[in-house]
Amino acid sequence: MDRIDSILEKMSLEEKIFQLTQYPISVFIDTKDDLDGPRKAYQLSGKNIALLGTVINPNDADEMIKAQEEHLRTDPNHIPLVFMRDVIHGYRTIYPIPLALAGSFNPELAEECAKMAAKEAALSGVQVTFAPMADYVRDPRWGRVLESGGEEPLVTGIMGAAQARGFQGDDLSDKDHIAACVKHFAAYGAGEAGREYNLAEVSLRELYEHYLPAYKMCIDAGVKLLMPSFNSVNGVPSTVNSFLMKKVLKEEWNYDGAVISDMYAVSELIPHGVAEDLKEAAEKAFTNGCDIEMCSSSYVLYLKELVEEGRISEEKIDEAARRVLMLKERLGLFEDPYHGADQKAAEAFYLCDENRALARRAAEESAVLLKNDGLLPLSPDVKRVALIGPFADSHEIKGAWSCKGRDEECVSMEEGVRKLLPDAEITVVSGCGIAWNETDADLQAAEKAANSADVVLLCLGEEQFCSGEAKSRTDLSLSPAQTALARTVLAANPNTAVVLFTGRPLAIPELSAKAPAILCMFFPGSEGGNAAANLLFGIANPSGKLTMSFPQSAAQCPVYYDRTNTGRPNWTDKAERLRYASDYIDCATLPLYSFGHGLSYSNFVYEEMKLSAKELPKSGSIGLSIKIKNESDISGSEVVQVYMKDPVASVVRPLQKLIAFKKVSFKPHEEKTVLFELNDSMFLFCDMEGKRIRETGRIEIMTGEADHFVLKDEFEMI
Ligand code: NOJ
Repeated sequence: MDRIDSILEKMSLEEKIFQLTQYPISVFIDTKDDLDGPRKAYQLSGKNIALLGTVINPNDADEMIKAQEEHLRTDPNHIPLVFMRDVIHGYRTIYPIPLALAGSFNPELAEECAKMAAKEAALSGVQVTFAPMADYVRDPRWGRVLESGGEEPLVTGIMGAAQARGFQGDDLSDKDHIAACVKHFAAYGAGEAGREYNLAEVSLRELYEHYLPAYKMCIDAGVKLLMPSFNSVNGVPSTVNSFLMKKVLKEEWNYDGAVISDMYAVSELIPHGVAEDLKEAAEKAFTNGCDIEMCSSSYVLYLKELVEEGRISEEKIDEAARRVLMLKERLGLFEDPYHGADQKAAEAFYLCDENRALARRAAEESAVLLKNDGLLPLSPDVKRVALIGPFADSHEIKGAWSCKGRDEECVSMEEGVRKLLPDAEITVVSGCGIAWNETDADLQAAEKAANSADVVLLCLGEEQFCSGEAKSRTDLSLSPAQTALARTVLAANPNTAVVLFTGRPLAIPELSAKAPAILCMFFPGSEGGNAAANLLFGIANPSGKLTMSFPQSAAQCPVYYDRTNTGRPNWTDKAERLRYASDYIDCATLPLYSFGHGLSYSNFVYEEMKLSAKELPKSGSIGLSIKIKNESDISGSEVVQVYMKDPVASVVRPLQKLIAFKKVSFKPHEEKTVLFELNDSMFLFCDMEGKRIRETGRIEIMTGEADHFVLKDEFEMI
């Protein structure tokens, strides 16, 4: 008999049910009277708190150790607690937001950042993170796009899987690693109109084609937990959606890890309108495979009764408890219930040189140079620099979901530029406040600073807590004050480079038309200012590409690169506009900057593309070689992107679909041949039932950037 069996054998039904519940650490810290304080909200007493299985949000190692010690003293079975927290893009050292990091198109980098975050978190008493988020997103009005990998499931899946590997390592009992939880299954990003928690109506074809693959890739990478989404998908909240939780997850994917609800999601089945009361909520959530209930008490209050009434079998409770105990065993908690937590060691490790260097590299590789009319890179010998805008001296650049990151530990633009240019004369004028609805700007001060500078860095963007959970917006433009500031500064000094800080794609058509250069840093994290300065002054070369399109206007959303034609395609690109076309009469149809876009200081010339065969048989593969030359004196990296188009099929296929990418570095004037293997599975697609099918016929292969391909070829699927 293994350890878990023998533990389970000794446990009472009530004890097993408590393994399936998660409460905040406050129930341990603020114990007061059982009838008061946080315990009251969960209807807990000192006696049953001792049975608890999992805890959310430990604040530091000392707090976690204290809670664990007390628990081990009082739990009759001495089963350690497992502590979980949202470690999304760093713990104390903050890396770029996931939307930005995905744009590095560098999975090794994402893995490395997750590995360092896991180490900081584990030292601080965290053993499980609620990441990666693998939600497919198309609508930047939704505030949580910042946590995602963007609008292409292949990229989200590859980057999410890399993060999962970084968090978990090869052996979870290794104290530097923590378990990963993929979320929010499924289609959380499809909330109607970009409104948080809103219903998602997604066809089977769409679900399987776009929404499900990235979760699956994270599961294949070995995540130990999964979290269903808050929203209802095709009519039923995910937590109790048997199609998602049973058919897809368990039957089709054979997922055998633990499932944890989102926060209060089980009790929220009542206002959601699918459970009469907590008892029904408990029954529905549990029977649909939700093992752990986060922060509500339906399981501890009603699962026992449901077993006694014969509505739930004790074997099913055993199975769920086993999954939780297995997680604890894999983490090695039975041997070391503290998993290496050590606050002193954590403090010494936080923001250490190694972590800061990684955060800087990640921010440099994640930034996207949206536009450059030749202004950038700036000369480091420049004499007078004006930093203008609300982000000029702001430390508020870590972004939402920054765990224990602190604003004051983020390097601001001003600090970054001053450090890089110690001899330059630097003027800083914020010009206006950072809030999204700010209307007042000090245009005079901004104009004066712009007039007397050789170059201006105009630091604009979205206030950091305008994106994140429950931060949906209908307006994706800059605040009125920032818009006025930009007009004034750009008119005063043509040598103005815009540096953009944001958690989501913004609608900036006017800025894009007027500014000679725009560098999008997103929310870059702890080393943002240093990374931006390095990029602007040519110490580093931009290599990031957008993973989510920037719209012309929020009213265009969703607007994304892998769109399909209608029978009356849009003719925006054509000189003559058709009267009855799928266009807008008052706005362009295509995004302002599309997925895959990003400039470099190097000049990458795509010289030749070759396919090794002209026919692709079933289960076969074709070699693809792309010859690229860096025709510049500047070394740099290029994300080589391979797209396909299936012009005629039984369902309407996208005009362009990314099927592979590689990030390749080039020395000055270096030429390289980049190789890909195109295999049959890249060309399958979903039919109306969501089944992946293969069809014969012509396939076009393109390289370059979406909507701007430089080389094309084609072959036949036979
Ligand atoms: C709610 C969020 O939706 C989820 O992503 C997060 O992991 C939990 N809260 C826990 O903080």
